[in-house]
Amino acid sequence: MKDLLNQPLKPLNTFRIDGITRRLIEIDSVKEIDYLFDNHVFDDKFMILGGGSNLLFCNDFAGTIIRLNLKGIQVVEETEEHVFIKVAAGEIWDDFVSYCLSHGYYGVENLIGIPGRVGSAPVQNIGAYGVEVKDVFYQVEGLFIADKSPFCFSAEACDFGYRNSVFKNRLRNQCLITSACFKLSKKESYNLTYSALNEAIKRKESPLTSSLVAQTVLEIRNAKLPDITKIGCAGSFFKNPVLPKTEAEQLLAQNPNLVTFDTENGMVKFAAARLIELCGCKEWKYGDVAVYPTQSLVIVNYGNASGTEVFQFYQRVTEAVKEKFGILLEPEVNIVC
Ligand code: EPU
Repeated sequence: MKDLLNQPLKPLNTFRIDGITRRLIEIDSVKEIDYLFDNHVFDDKFMILGGGSNLLFCNDFAGTIIRLNLKGIQVVEETEEHVFIKVAAGEIWDDFVSYCLSHGYYGVENLIGIPGRVGSAPVQNIGAYGVEVKDVFYQVEGLFIADKSPFCFSAEACDFGYRNSVFKNRLRNQCLITSACFKLSKKESYNLTYSALNEAIKRKESPLTSSLVAQTVLEIRNAKLPDITKIGCAGSFFKNPVLPKTEAEQLLAQNPNLVTFDTENGMVKFAAARLIELCGCKEWKYGDVAVYPTQSLVIVNYGNASGTEVFQFYQRVTEAVKEKFGILLEPEVNIVC
């Protein structure tokens, strides 16, 4: 365990924003969690940090950042068709994906390459290439911050939505997630509903395996998204806006070059990347902040941008899209001000 004052923010966020957190507590085992309650850490301003790959610090953090480095991947139950795997919150999401690939468990191959930790996966309902965490989710365990009582939520209780869950809404900042349990298939099954993935796999002409799917997803990701070990960013900065069908049809009639996708609930999702491009934001560069050339949903920090500079850039993009299309883009990253 570590309990340190005045620590640099830069190693704690993939946007590589510099600054200071007043206090940083790292917890390495379930037993050590008591320390947080015994020392009344939650009485003051705090935030729970996962991999730091989906957030923007606008300023120094005048509170305590808590990181749960809990480790462990364990098969807790097995049937003929399924395996239930309990994964500690501090495990790296991609390590869990590798574990599933190497053990022949199907369901998360499309989610390879997503940065972050397992504890954040249900909070965000992370998703890519046609699959979301909710599709393989079984339950999540942890403690309520208010009274240290344990909880165990099913998928229904998590109320998953597009990059959304109960942990971002009704239970925001109220839960310490210690582990998540996933239900994977032992029988070969693939989700190739995402057309770009489907087409890329067809072009390969190799036998369909989970490794082939994972490899292809990585190739698509690498071609479009920045390498976070080299360039500061937090993945998609914006959510793709979702509009009711009638509103969407009107907008499309006026702007036929917008890209849309029908969603499960009859709404229409607009590719925010295209909206951003049509506003000319792709050419913008303010200091070290810019839109990433091959994926316009991503804002990057090419060097030493401050949190405020990134925040101002985000606001400029939002204003441009609002002015041209009347759509208010919502951030997908957590903005910590
Ligand atoms: N598009 C553009 N310009 C671009 C990129 C995309 O016009 O620069 C258009 C294309 O027409 C494309 C469509 O947008 O067909 C969708 O693009 P893409 O498949 O790249 O997906 P996305 O909607 O831009 C979402 C997720 C990504 C995830 C990909 C793949 C969100 C906010 N983002 O991006 O997730 O990897 O789908 O499934 O939903 C993340 O959450 O951080 C993230 C990277």
